[in-house]
Amino acid sequence: MDDFLKRKGELYCEDMPISKLVKIHGTPLYIYSRNTILSHYNKIKNAFAELNPLICYSVKANSNLTILRLLAEQGTGLDIVSQGELERGLAVKVPTRCMVYAGVGKTEKEIIAALRAGILMFNVESEPEARLINRVAQKMKTCAQVAFRINPDVDAKTHKYITTGKKENKFGLTIPLAMDLFRSTRRLKHIKPIGVHMHIGSQITSATPYLQAIRRMSKMIAELRREDFDIEYFNLGGGLGIIYNEERPQTANEFAQAVAPLIRPLKCKLILEPGRFIVGNAGILVTEVQYVKRGHLKSFAIVDAGMNDLIRPSLYGAFHQILPVISKRGGKTVLTDVVGPICESGDFLGKDRHLPNLESGDLLAVRSAGAYGMVMASNYNSRPRPAEVLVAGSKAKLIRKREIMAEVLAPELAMLKN
Ligand code: LLP
Repeated sequence: MDDFLKRKGELYCEDMPISKLVKIHGTPLYIYSRNTILSHYNKIKNAFAELNPLICYSVKANSNLTILRLLAEQGTGLDIVSQGELERGLAVKVPTRCMVYAGVGKTEKEIIAALRAGILMFNVESEPEARLINRVAQKMKTCAQVAFRINPDVDAKTHKYITTGKKENKFGLTIPLAMDLFRSTRRLKHIKPIGVHMHIGSQITSATPYLQAIRRMSKMIAELRREDFDIEYFNLGGGLGIIYNEERPQTANEFAQAVAPLIRPLKCKLILEPGRFIVGNAGILVTEVQYVKRGHLKSFAIVDAGMNDLIRPSLYGAFHQILPVISKRGGKTVLTDVVGPICESGDFLGKDRHLPNLESGDLLAVRSAGAYGMVMASNYNSRPRPAEVLVAGSKAKLIRKREIMAEVLAPELAMLKN
């Protein structure tokens, strides 16, 4: 499943002991395995080989430039949602013809930047957005390729904050509205519809909601073709779930086998936008125990990583396995909440965990933190963000320096001089 394994009671990333990286780089520290990233990418690539999809890695899951470059070297395209993500893609030389741009709030400035760069297409989420792209493209004397993002109104059976394909969600267009928009492009001369897009949510463990959505969209594609629209691309979005705890998500192969019979007859170029599936289990967050408070009911292990470093437990009640980097011998386990230093009761990494008797200085690894971990980190409580390291075999490379207070303060210190 991943390359974080214990050897003689000590946690390694590939062939590198975690404790060695902590000695060099300190904590909190994000550590990624190159091999896990590549093997998960290859799982998707091989599972869908027959359909030869364009795999547009979803930058928002983990946007570290070294990781983006690693994926770009494998030939991935990118799913981007901001000018910032576009610039990350450009910085690591991802061909812009392999970038697709989603998001409900693209600004005029962002649309100009993306058109200038020459991205493959915008995934358009509303009628006013379509009109704006048309206007901007007209001013730039060009024609923007677009797909319309459909909200197929299916329940992806995941956390409500990461469900995106139900009618009460802000994403995409209903099928009738999308049909009207396709038709209106006959008048909007500066956008060219070339496909349809869906993304129904994240951490989805079964193919069933995808199948429901594809069926609805297939009917729509047939109707569009009857009206002479050329639908070249079908974008299935991302969303494949991973194992955090006891989930049993479909494998990439099972997913591909389930959806291929519905995709094949569409005769479209398939686009996939995986994020979490590629990087989720490829990263851990390592943190050091500062204090242990022993209570009547349970112990609190107060660690040096908080909700500002990894917000998923606080925001979604997400479960991340937590284990000591160096196994402790013997003794009973203690019911423990692993909590951060932030002044909020919601600041925890794990609750009611059966952990060995911890002491100050012990290192803990928070697993499956490769996706939506560092990218969602903040400076709350004026805490600098962690460093990131990428391991390949017995070698490790610092891929993002630990933020220092001077960097956190700089934009405000500069203002004090006025
Ligand atoms: N495509 C689009 C248009 C998306 O909005 C997303 C994720 C993806 C692809 C990639 O989805 P994935 O394969 O990673 O599931 N912060 C949340 C997840 C938010 C997902 C947002 N969109 C979390 O920590 O669970």
